[in-house]
Amino acid sequence: MNSDSKVWLNGEFIPSHQATVPLLSHGFSRGSAIFEVFGIHASSDGIFAFRMDEHLKRLMKSARLLEMEMAFTTEEIVDAVARTVKANKMGRGLIKILAYWGEEAVIQLVLESKLDLAIFAIPDSEELGLDKVEPISACLSKWRKIHPETVPVSAKSCANYLNAYLARKDANNRGFNVGLLVGTDGFLAEGSIESVFIVKNGVLKTPPLGRILSSITRQTILEAAPHIDIPASEDPILPDELFSADEIFTSHSGIKVLPVARFEDRDLQAPGPITAQLTKHMDNITNFRDDRFRNWFTPLD
Ligand SMILES: Cc1ncc(COP(=O)(O)O)c(C=O)c1O
Repeated sequence: MNSDSKVWLNGEFIPSHQATVPLLSHGFSRGSAIFEVFGIHASSDGIFAFRMDEHLKRLMKSARLLEMEMAFTTEEIVDAVARTVKANKMGRGLIKILAYWGEEAVIQLVLESKLDLAIFAIPDSEELGLDKVEPISACLSKWRKIHPETVPVSAKSCANYLNAYLARKDANNRGFNVGLLVGTDGFLAEGSIESVFIVKNGVLKTPPLGRILSSITRQTILEAAPHIDIPASEDPILPDELFSADEIFTSHSGIKVLPVARFEDRDLQAPGPITAQLTKHMDNITNFRDDRFRNWFTPLD
């Protein structure tokens, strides 16, 4: 992260190199922080956040599910995001919000204090490549998606990302970009940091909620696809269906539609025709060329 950037921390701006926590903080030593990441888009009309209301709803829900108390209201966070974007003169990029127990907790497992809140402005870069879509390879992970009765999987909590890390590491070790996790129920769940969609006979299908993160991009695609006459459904998917799918793509807030060109030992058209149509549609939406979806943007200046 650029050391000149300004981080909003509990109402004040500090230089990013000072945005640190004690090693023994609960957030770090027990991995209990919760977070959100969403896109910032620039147009000639100004700077806008994409579906920020949904992301902030999920942040509040993560806190509720984990019985943690936020120190700031949604309205205060919206204002803080706008100030962070301005303070960093940000254009296209991502906002990352972290809510965490920053105080030292040497042996305590449960804390009662309100969460600290930090907001980071992450400008797009060559490395981040937000609008660069390069088809990826994917495999089935040897790891199962964490069971929803062990931790709430719909909370976006750092601790859940150990499962994600292992799946990504396993995939990378085997020469793939991403690993797709199957749930303990035997059905496809999601990737480490991405939702997964398949296309079969012109119909788009993604696993239902319950065992996966309630991804905002997944929801966005499900809502947007019917507008270009692509039928979309939320249905349990067996891993076998990945081997016979016409097209596969993943999605997350960074890149809306990311085609899979190789799944295990199978080559796929990437993008296939439906994925290409959807990519164009999402591109029109996120570049303000489709007024039907203007209400998905929050102006920040
Ligand atoms: C496990 C998991 N699934 C799906 C997603 C995509 O979610 P969103 O579209 O809200 O970015 C993410 C994003 O980080 C994720 O971590």
